[in-house]
Amino acid sequence: MWPTAVDTSLELRERYSHDWTEDLRFLPDAVALPGSVEVLQQILAYAYEQDIPIIPAGGRTGLSGGMLPVQGGWVVSLEKLNRILTIDTANLYAVVQAGVITQTLQEAVETVGLFYPPDPSSRGSCTIGGNIAHNAGGVRAVKYGTTREYVLGLEAFLPDGRPLRTGSRTLKNSTGYNLTQLLVGSEGTLAVIHTAILKLLPKPRYARTLLLGFPDARSAVAAVVAVLQKGILPTAIEFMERDAVLFGQAYLGEKLYSGADTYGGLLLIEVDGSVPEVLEAECAEIEAVAFSAGATQSWYAQTADERERLWRLRRCLGIAVKSSGPYKEEDTVVPRTALPDLLEKVKSLGKKYGFRSVCYGHVGDGNLHVNILREYLPQKVWDEEIPQAVEELFRFVVAHGGALSGEHGIGWVQRRYMPIQFSPDELALMKALKATFDPKGLLNPGKIFP
Ligand code: LAC
Ligand code: ZN
Repeated sequence: MWPTAVDTSLELRERYSHDWTEDLRFLPDAVALPGSVEVLQQILAYAYEQDIPIIPAGGRTGLSGGMLPVQGGWVVSLEKLNRILTIDTANLYAVVQAGVITQTLQEAVETVGLFYPPDPSSRGSCTIGGNIAHNAGGVRAVKYGTTREYVLGLEAFLPDGRPLRTGSRTLKNSTGYNLTQLLVGSEGTLAVIHTAILKLLPKPRYARTLLLGFPDARSAVAAVVAVLQKGILPTAIEFMERDAVLFGQAYLGEKLYSGADTYGGLLLIEVDGSVPEVLEAECAEIEAVAFSAGATQSWYAQTADERERLWRLRRCLGIAVKSSGPYKEEDTVVPRTALPDLLEKVKSLGKKYGFRSVCYGHVGDGNLHVNILREYLPQKVWDEEIPQAVEELFRFVVAHGGALSGEHGIGWVQRRYMPIQFSPDELALMKALKATFDPKGLLNPGKIFP
């Protein structure tokens, strides 16, 4: 029997035909919006029997095309499973459904003095389920790690609707294979996650935020290692090259500190903790190290508003670049010492292939978002030569001990590059795991693998 909550209206199918990845669109055959775990299970069981591909979806803010229904089928959005089931203030964990918006969870735990650190720029619209599926990172990973570090256990369905429970409500667990962490980052290809047990921390009481101006982008990213070697672990170390700042300012219609947009590269650094005087001393030390590493200007956020303004600009960069026109986004990550050469590689590829790039990102994690702008490039160059440039870039990244994606996942758009990072044996092993979970290959088909 046709399950409830499955809709075939064109309007809905169009709405679920895309995420935030470039301008890609693929129309699903139907959209399912289950309002309960039971209905979700019925939908999966029915679709499995009928050989209908299932594409799990969260907030659809992904940047690798992870939820694009590239082979048709049903998009199953988890957005109505959006309840925070438990916030356990004694044991420091939360149990939440996959459709909870990340910022909603952050704010809910903060009202009881707790902290959920993963903080992607899209936090106002992305969901916990999507964050888990892609192991989302964000701006606090340098100190607090990525989503992975906060997932203690999961409840999910196998493609045919059989339930799967992994992990426990404990910090420690050495019991059997770690299926929890196999599902984290599996991009909806192994199981449909509907509930998560998430680790919480006590909320740091204070934060202090500092912006540093460097004459050029290279010296800004080179300073990251010096800052960390000082023995202070900031919450965030974010980089913006000048063009990124200009895009962000134009998008928001507001400016950073006067003159800040004249520097080749900026670092936005935040520290947090429980003693404000300590944080202020740490900021002064960071500032001193940065100046000896080439910084020539610094600005301290003096008020909560000012701090908010800095983060607003940083968080809008993705959407600012996207709304400027066609582009491709590469989510490179390397050991931090390789950052200056990575940046130089990007710019030299730009000269070789004729593109302009805008770079920014979580350089405290070695994670540089490289945005390649289409601008005036002819279609043929865009389609045929730019992928070669990206391949060169990824070869550089892998040769330096990095990875194709730091936090956005492989999804649809990066899958062709997987052989740069993995041997045929390694890819075959991953495919064998996929086949064990999903023997019919119905769950989010066409993703991750080349
Ligand atoms: C950011 C997104 C693009 O860092 O990951 O803003
Ligand atoms: Zn990012």
